[in-house]
Amino acid sequence: MRVLNKVALVSGGGRGIGAAITKTLASEGAKVVIGDVLEDAGQKTAREITQSGGECIFVRLDVTKESDWATLVDKTVSHFGYINVLVNNAGITARGLVEEITEEDWSRVMEVNVKGCFLGTKACIPQMRAVGGGSIINISSGAAIAPQPNTSGAYSASKGAIRIFTKSTAIQYAVDNIRCNSVHPGPVETDMLNLDRQGDSELAEMKARVPLGRFGSPQDIGYGVLYLASDESSFVTGSELVIDGGRTAQ
Ligand SMILES: NC(=O)c1ccc[n+]([C@@H]2O[C@H](COP(=O)([O-])OP(=O)(O)OC[C@H]3O[C@@H](n4cnc5c(N)ncnc54)[C@H](O)[C@@H]3O)[C@@H](O)[C@H]2O)c1
Repeated sequence: MRVLNKVALVSGGGRGIGAAITKTLASEGAKVVIGDVLEDAGQKTAREITQSGGECIFVRLDVTKESDWATLVDKTVSHFGYINVLVNNAGITARGLVEEITEEDWSRVMEVNVKGCFLGTKACIPQMRAVGGGSIINISSGAAIAPQPNTSGAYSASKGAIRIFTKSTAIQYAVDNIRCNSVHPGPVETDMLNLDRQGDSELAEMKARVPLGRFGSPQDIGYGVLYLASDESSFVTGSELVIDGGRTAQ
């Protein structure tokens, strides 16, 4: 059991990559709290975990609302006692070239992806400090390192902000034994990938740019997060874990 008795919050844990992260952590002994705006998906994932013997609860969370984070932290502490892992996974995208992105879309992407990550981090640091440390894992993207031609500029900019916010958090809170790392998935088969692309030819083009010749699975990302959540990575902070089949190595 690689994360036995850790208590982990996963934002956007109801479906996709977040659900795989939640299940992977629970299968290795963590008690997990899913925070998501999608209540049905969040409840369903939590139920699947408890039915297979894990410990998991769902709490409704809009990552852009500081009061929701306060409620999530309170409920987690009253249910499981403490928090020592936070996975800032919730994210959205907006399609389009720079001239096509609306001001509203730009702001919404920044709100959810960047402000959501900031508010989650801010809400959990006092809890982690109180138990002698913790691990914060921010799901950025390969787009923060090298965007694809058709990747939305708003999305890439938001993921770049998460990348550097991660390093800033890492150096500010190392003194409290709180580690903070970013994960950079390449294209992963989820609803987001399908929504973000138009048609099979665009997907085929994306796949052709991956040296390993396939899209990632949500589980591929879950395994990386498991390592960063566990004490196996106790000397790892401020780092970037790229899980992209080699796409950004080219
Ligand atoms: N799928 C990919 O190819 C890919 C690649 C790189 C990075 N990522 C990142 O991985 C993360 C997960 O993406 P995914 O592919 O699983 O997408 P997804 O759309 O399947 O899941 C995103 C989750 O975030 C939740 N969410 C959205 N807005 C929220 C809000 N305001 N408050 C709380 N929860 C909210 C959604 O309800 C959903 O459960 C995202 O941060 C995404 O940017 C995905």
